[in-house]
Amino acid sequence: MEDRFNTIAGWVLGSGIVALGLSTLSAHYFLANKPERPEKMGYAIAGVVSSEGGAAAETPIATRLAAADPAKGGDVFKKCTSCHTVNQGGANGIGPNLYGVVGDSVAQGRGGFAFSDALKSKGGKWDFATLDAWLKNPREFAPGTKMTFAGISDGQDRANVIAYLNTQGSNLPLPKAAPAPAAAAGVKAGATGAGTAPTGAAAASAGAPAGAAPAAGATSAGAAASASASPAGANDAGTIKHP
Ligand code: HEC
Repeated sequence: MEDRFNTIAGWVLGSGIVALGLSTLSAHYFLANKPERPEKMGYAIAGVVSSEGGAAAETPIATRLAAADPAKGGDVFKKCTSCHTVNQGGANGIGPNLYGVVGDSVAQGRGGFAFSDALKSKGGKWDFATLDAWLKNPREFAPGTKMTFAGISDGQDRANVIAYLNTQGSNLPLPKAAPAPAAAAGVKAGATGAGTAPTGAAAASAGAPAGAAPAAGATSAGAAASASASPAGANDAGTIKHP
């Protein structure tokens, strides 16, 4: 009797330990994923909003610059520091020193940095719009470029880092943001929407479709861009996403 009790107790204890171990393992397995999940979804949602705005037409760089934060751009610039310095007289590394690059000639000077023909052949100056396109996708902007950097997909991050670069030796006046959304709205909404567009369009191009929705009477974020036109020409609303 005594022996059996010990045997049974041993099995119960043993299987308890195994069960505990398994549950700890599975908890690790599942919990390990859980903290990531909301983060990913958060990013995905942000991406959905910006790509809906961005797929049809990205918020104009002038508008994004008006809302840009050079300090945040300094953070974004950490992605660049493995290849670039930005201080005055800073050394060239894998990439050229970027002091005063905003407004400067494309692929010229920079202490004799050996630019690729791909970038040299672009010519012109780095203005806000060209920097925006370049930093979005360097290889698309200058196929064959030596800048092996994937690009920054987030439009506001790009505006922030451009605003930051502008504070490093350039200090050009930022483009005026106010007329840009109205002009963009005129193009997007067509003649019908032009008069009523600014409310919806300003909100939409400020990257806040949710804010635009109540104002324009639209219910979904995706409709925000077209919502600007709906007060004047509701039947056009569905057709203007890709003008
Ligand atoms: C992996 C290295 C690398 C990273 C990371 C990188 N760059 Fe570059 N960058 C280069 C190289 C190399 C060039 C020269 C490209 C060429 O000649 O085709 C360049 C060129 C440039 C130019 C053009 C300079 C001129 O005078 O014409 C700008 C502006 C620039 N980079 C900005 C940035 C910014 C801003 C970031 C971060 C968001 C960044 N780069 C990240 C390597 C890099």
